[in-house]
Amino acid sequence: MPVSASPALLEVSGVTVRFGGITALDGVSFAIAPGSIAGLIGPNGAGKTTLFNCLSRLYTFSEGSIHFEGQPLTAYAPHQIAALGIGRTFQNLALFRTMSVRDNVTIGGHCRSSSGFLANALRMPWVRREEAVLDQRAAGLITLLDLDSVAHRPVSDLPFGTQKRVELARALMSQPKLLLLDEPAAGLNHEEVDGLRLLLRRIQSELSLTILLVEHHMNLVMRVSDQVIALDFGRKIADGTPAEVQANPEVVRAYLGAAQ
Ligand SMILES: Nc1ncnc2c1ncn2[C@@H]1O[C@H](COP(=O)(O)OP(=O)(O)OP(=O)(O)O)[C@@H](O)[C@H]1O
Ligand SMILES: [Mg+2]
Repeated sequence: MPVSASPALLEVSGVTVRFGGITALDGVSFAIAPGSIAGLIGPNGAGKTTLFNCLSRLYTFSEGSIHFEGQPLTAYAPHQIAALGIGRTFQNLALFRTMSVRDNVTIGGHCRSSSGFLANALRMPWVRREEAVLDQRAAGLITLLDLDSVAHRPVSDLPFGTQKRVELARALMSQPKLLLLDEPAAGLNHEEVDGLRLLLRRIQSELSLTILLVEHHMNLVMRVSDQVIALDFGRKIADGTPAEVQANPEVVRAYLGAAQ
């Protein structure tokens, strides 16, 4: 554990992931303070999504450790991660396209429901109470994310930027303490990116969340983040305030190299 006044919500320590001959993550360590927004940047193939997949327990790391609220993540199975308090969205949208916005959002709350198959089938009173709570939470998030006017529409009818807000609402349904967003600004226009920046700040403060955000949109990352972590070829090359990371020569080199 770090020696600091406020213990980290997330502590990644020496995490290494290999795929055959490729080292996707090479001894990556960092800590994220509760209540902050952290940006994870790096050129294509740097290992950003691989790190998210380790945090969701979809990938196993060969070395290192990850602690969430002081608990080792390896003690939990992938299906327990959402209930533990880690929610995420995916780089490629993962929505039920023919289902309505409301149903897609409501489904995100089921990791926390306690009723089993039989109780559900018999429509026991506590199942109905639980459903009412989920419906209410979904309605609140639909309003927060400005989705009321499309709540009954199938997701496939909606523009990409709106679908991304549906995915965000669904991730919030599990009431995460840590929200992982993989390229939330990808495919959004200039105005939508600005809206997203304000929205992230708003949900972070209104829902007391901590956010870790993978993003190529530098303007967004640098304006919204308290802390920025940069990866290149699986290694951490910088970690600090947005201004510190932007001025870091290794970061500048990594991006100039990627642009050539
Ligand atoms: N399941 C996998 N099997 C084999 N190699 C993988 C797998 N997942 C990732 N990799 C490799 O690991 C490296 C890091 O990939 P990753 O998807 O984490 O990068 P990224 O930083 O998210 O990139 P991008 O910005 O393009 O999304 C790449 O070389 C990639 O090809
Ligand atoms: Mg990625």
